[in-house]
Amino acid sequence: MGLTYIPVARAGELEPGERKAVDLNGRALVLTRMDDGYVAFSRYCPHESADLMNGPIVAGKVRCDNHGYCFDLGTGDCVLPKGGDPLTVLPVEERGEEVCVRIEW
Ligand code: FES
Repeated sequence: MGLTYIPVARAGELEPGERKAVDLNGRALVLTRMDDGYVAFSRYCPHESADLMNGPIVAGKVRCDNHGYCFDLGTGDCVLPKGGDPLTVLPVEERGEEVCVRIEW
């Protein structure tokens, strides 16, 4: 198994609650800083591809404004309705002066 870290922001660039659109080799992601760290998730909803850039995040879940689906930002699971297609969530680590998405392959 390989491991790659891809820088997506500078450390301190985002305040808690802020978001940044990230293009990761053609894949659109949203990077956000939570109270307990960073998370990166697919920018487009797995239901019908609505843009999640401004979807409200409450208690570790992002809600799609299009039809109201909610996704756990820890696991990507669709929690409302249960069993919907999951959201892609990628691990993010602060490494020195950079915030990096961790890709395992
Ligand atoms: S497009 Fe997101 S819930 Fe339907």
